[in-house]
Amino acid sequence: MITSHNPVPKLGKRLKAILHQVNVAQQQQIYDYIWDGCCDHGYLGIHIQALHQPYRMVYVDRLSHLTNELNTRLKHSSEGKFQVITANICDLTFDKSKRHLMILAGVGGEQIIQFLESRTHQDYEQIDFMFSPSTGQHELRSYLNFHKFGLIHETLVTENKRSYEIIYTTLRGISENPLPKISNFGEMWQTSNQEHVQYIEKLANHYLQKSRNDHSGQSASVASQYQSIIS
Ligand SMILES: C[S@@+](CC[C@H](N)C(=O)[O-])C[C@H]1O[C@@H](n2cnc3c(N)ncnc32)[C@H](O)[C@@H]1O
Repeated sequence: MITSHNPVPKLGKRLKAILHQVNVAQQQQIYDYIWDGCCDHGYLGIHIQALHQPYRMVYVDRLSHLTNELNTRLKHSSEGKFQVITANICDLTFDKSKRHLMILAGVGGEQIIQFLESRTHQDYEQIDFMFSPSTGQHELRSYLNFHKFGLIHETLVTENKRSYEIIYTTLRGISENPLPKISNFGEMWQTSNQEHVQYIEKLANHYLQKSRNDHSGQSASVASQYQSIIS
């Protein structure tokens, strides 16, 4: 599908790390549908689709100029099964007889929470999630923790001096198959790794700044809990 006439830019470390995680999952052919939920130009999805697995790749973005361009590109060059949808992710419906992986990367934790809030109980039995929030990581984690989401895998990846969490999670079958719960702050930290330490310091500083206008003490508490990971 990716040809010399239609080259797709190489993925950076962040999207490569997500692609790797999808590859690991799909070795067991878990999913019928894989969704690139806020796809932009669709680079991640195009690379996933290029693996030629017998699943359907679904690209979603709310901006029609992006989805139109992607549709044209895929129609001319695609060999795999795919669908391109122009929509708000909160309005999506999922085929209840199929297994789905929803990837949401490069959008804020708040938007991801809005998407989760828009889901039905049944959706949670069919969909696993891979999130890489650009902001609001702690808020998203706290939401997932409160709602008892299970941790499949989590990692931190650093690209161009910025670090990104990747959280692979599910609520599916959680009562029969208990997984560790998503933690509010993450459990994957390597305190001997400078990239991890700098990322945590950045988050701690962010909440410290926030605490100046937050008299509830909540932001200060979040800051000190991040700080305690590395001290
Ligand atoms: C920064 S890009 C991220 C692209 C890619 N996922 C990545 O990680 O590099 C965010 C994309 O999400 C889309 N988007 C944001 N909120 C959305 C929503 N609620 N529903 C659908 N698309 C959305 C935007 O139009 C934009 O193309």
